[in-house]
Amino acid sequence: MPERKGTVCFGFDSNEWAVFLLKISTMFPLVPCFAISFVLPIVLSDGRLANLTELHPPADITIASRHLGELTVTWNDSISQDIKKWCVIRYPIEFKYYDSDDWQEDSRRLYPKHVEVFELHRGVSIRVKNMLLDKTIIKESNWTIMDIPPPPGDRETLASNFSCIIYNHSSMNCTWRKGSKAPTDTEYVMYYRQDKITRRCIHYFMDANGAQGCHVDHIGNENILICVNGSSNSTIVQPYYTQFDPFECEIYNPPVNLEVSQNLTVKWDMPAGYNNDPYCFAFELKVTDLDGDSTKLLRIDHVTEYVLVNINPTKRHSVKVRMKLAHCDETKFWSDWSNEDFIENLHSFNAYWMLLMLAIITAMTGLLLLFAFRRCKVLETVCEPIPDPQKKFKALFEEYNGDFQNWINCQIPISKADECHPIAIEENPQAEA
Ligand SMILES: *[C@@H]1O[C@H](CO)[C@@H](O)[C@H](O)[C@H]1NC(C)=O
Ligand SMILES: *[C@@H]1O[C@H](CO)[C@@H](O)[C@H](O)[C@H]1NC(C)=O
Ligand SMILES: *[C@@H]1O[C@H](CO)[C@@H](O)[C@H](O)[C@H]1NC(C)=O
Ligand SMILES: *[C@@H]1O[C@H](CO)[C@@H](O)[C@H](O)[C@H]1NC(C)=O
Ligand SMILES: *[C@@H]1O[C@H](CO)[C@@H](O)[C@H](O)[C@H]1NC(C)=O
Ligand SMILES: *[C@@H]1O[C@H](CO)[C@@H](O)[C@H](O)[C@H]1NC(C)=O
Ligand SMILES: *[C@@H]1O[C@H](CO)[C@@H](O)[C@H](O)[C@H]1NC(C)=O
Repeated sequence: MPERKGTVCFGFDSNEWAVFLLKISTMFPLVPCFAISFVLPIVLSDGRLANLTELHPPADITIASRHLGELTVTWNDSISQDIKKWCVIRYPIEFKYYDSDDWQEDSRRLYPKHVEVFELHRGVSIRVKNMLLDKTIIKESNWTIMDIPPPPGDRETLASNFSCIIYNHSSMNCTWRKGSKAPTDTEYVMYYRQDKITRRCIHYFMDANGAQGCHVDHIGNENILICVNGSSNSTIVQPYYTQFDPFECEIYNPPVNLEVSQNLTVKWDMPAGYNNDPYCFAFELKVTDLDGDSTKLLRIDHVTEYVLVNINPTKRHSVKVRMKLAHCDETKFWSDWSNEDFIENLHSFNAYWMLLMLAIITAMTGLLLLFAFRRCKVLETVCEPIPDPQKKFKALFEEYNGDFQNWINCQIPISKADECHPIAIEENPQAEA
């Protein structure tokens, strides 16, 4: 393309042109993108970068370091210094698990180095290529592929159903089940990595459903990398790798200080120790009709207050609330329920006072009666001891030896009929004896 060469080059030789471009590029980032599309053909015709037509793929992909599932991969791009001087170079990198058919586009790296976390038990292939870039892609090399096969051992020996929860700010419980082909003597050990430090979990437990688990006391906010590898005397147990964002698995402490006021406004507070701004949270109110046994769930976003409507105020209700992160990020789990408060109806409020009044009136009446009795000396009559027949009828037992007929004949007529009712005495077995 001779004309273009003439118009673009202004008589520079290509080295001077390169220096000029570099200088310009530091001042106006867009200039090289624009210029290079003219320059490349020139360079090509120049012969120096003629080999650009066959841009070599990267070579020597190596795993530079490995922490649980986190691999640092580096490669040699095999691109000459000349091209590097001239062109914007990117390294597209993709990966594909052995159990999947799709390459997943990862990113375009600026440097021949990439750090990525993989579920290594699945086996993974990583591929990378060289790319010369302008506003459009000028040239791409072929891919170079590196295979990382699954670690030795049967797939069915892997810890299965692995899951974790983060609770009470920074505690973590992870649980898993033994692989179906893992021998009975298999012992699993959990390693976790956060903030560039790998630790071995030490507090193991068996949960109520028979799953194995491990408890960690202090977990930070960064992504958590996990490896559960097992050992057995009879076979190789495959290690399991995963990673997750602790926010997703967080179970928040429940809201506190829930209160329902007379005007049916429900208010609650955020639990201590979290960001106090409820904006990112969703809340769920549970309103239970205690008489009818029906339950209503109400979803509230961003605020810690709600005015209940469509509530029959003549019935007793209980109200409680729970929460989860739903807006800025999302957690999988709701918190536990908060404290409960009750909507008491107006009648039961009156009944309380009525009971109280009744109690007071009864007490007052009792006291008044007491005074009245004292005054009229009726009290003594009331308190008179119950007569003992042995005393009244002393003579009957002592002198007449219990012979009633004989004794009665000698008695003066008795005023109080009940006290000496003959039948009453006859029926008294002690009197007969
Ligand atoms: C182009 O590559 C061939 C072999 O691949 C090499 O012999 C030749 O010297 C290269 N040319 C330049 C200008 O680098
Ligand atoms: C790219 O791959 C194709 C087909 O696999 C091959 O024919 C070609 O020579 C390769 N090019 C380079 C630069 O390796
Ligand atoms: C594993 O987890 C799945 C889904 O969470 C559940 O359906 C299944 O019952 C669990 N299996 C065992 C053995 O716990
Ligand atoms: C929750 O964590 C706090 C400190 O953050 C601790 O004082 C408290 O005992 C923990 N509660 C439970 C139930 O573990
Ligand atoms: C977590 O595990 C510990 C240890 O077994 C247990 O005491 C605690 O109740 C568990 N917490 C939750 C929220 O499951
Ligand atoms: C389990 O993995 C850790 C970390 O990769 C390693 O140090 C340890 O030797 C492994 N243990 C077994 C039994 O494979
Ligand atoms: C309901 O009562 C509470 C306090 O008892 C008060 O703060 C609130 O403003 C009241 N709301 C309405 C709508 O009257």
